[in-house]
Amino acid sequence: MSKGVIAALANGLVFVTGKGGVGKSAVAAALSLALAEAGRRTLLLGIDPRENLHEWLGVAPSGGERLAIAPGLVLESLRPRLLIDREVETRMPIRLLARQLLAHPLYHQFVDGAPGLEELVVLAYVERCLHGEFDVVVLDGAASGHALGQLLAPALVAEAVRGGPFARLAARLRGLVSDPRRCRTVLVTTAEEMPAAETFELAEELTAAIGVPAALLVINQLAPDDLPVARAGEAAPLVLWRRRLARQQRERERLRSGWSGAVTELPWLPLPRGAALAHALAEWLAAAPEAPA
Ligand SMILES: Nc1ncnc2c1ncn2[C@@H]1O[C@H](COP(=O)(O)OP(=O)(O)OP(=O)(O)O)[C@@H](O)[C@H]1O
Ligand SMILES: [Mg+2]
Repeated sequence: MSKGVIAALANGLVFVTGKGGVGKSAVAAALSLALAEAGRRTLLLGIDPRENLHEWLGVAPSGGERLAIAPGLVLESLRPRLLIDREVETRMPIRLLARQLLAHPLYHQFVDGAPGLEELVVLAYVERCLHGEFDVVVLDGAASGHALGQLLAPALVAEAVRGGPFARLAARLRGLVSDPRRCRTVLVTTAEEMPAAETFELAEELTAAIGVPAALLVINQLAPDDLPVARAGEAAPLVLWRRRLARQQRERERLRSGWSGAVTELPWLPLPRGAALAHALAEWLAAAPEAPA
């Protein structure tokens, strides 16, 4: 595999996050297409209850079932709560007892209220997938706040629970998320003031939480900056466009100069949300020259 963004993200967990609406799902889908194209056995995993990753790969929603998309690429929209229930079912030898437990209100209260449980279950699932079945799991990791919770959960649970299988699981998963060879975070942003500010904040919090800086910053949806230069008396939309470009340029420079790690840029492409856009972005990523440090 040639050097570049894709080669540097070719194994382990690739955790994609950023502010709401910046293009996390688009980038996660594009990354997984490019990774599979490069020969990596890739799982694109969604945990968003809105389940919309299928739109990016041009398939119908599966209701949680795995979907084989292309050679080496599988899509799965995970429902953490179902995973917990399934775990109970497989661990309890007597089916009737398992069913009674799953129907019990106290069970629901416990599962809904246990802090970090869903996050641990997701990471434990990722860990299992990486044991032989897949080379890389791309996790479309929801917006900033929730993403931070996802990566912090193992450390918080490991602190709070001493001894027992749950504590051991938490400690193991803390090892996974803080190992830069097995877990890489990709922060997606646009070159706009609010997302850029949130990106720096999130990058700092993530580094503090897991002790590892983000592997890659993706500046997404960059508008082309080669429009004709505006002149006095020109039409209002062009003036507005020029102002927008000037703002974009300012934020882009701020992002690039304030970022010490690897950066890659993706253009805004005149395509609707969907598979054609994901494939086009995958081609950009596959050719992206800047390899993460
Ligand atoms: N490079 C791009 N070029 C053109 N449109 C894009 C690009 N990236 C994303 N978009 C558009 O931006 C919108 C948001 O993208 P997406 O759903 O991937 O964002 P998100 O960060 O996952 O959002 P959410 O926080 O709601 O999960 C979509 O309509 C998508 O088509
Ligand atoms: Mg999304």
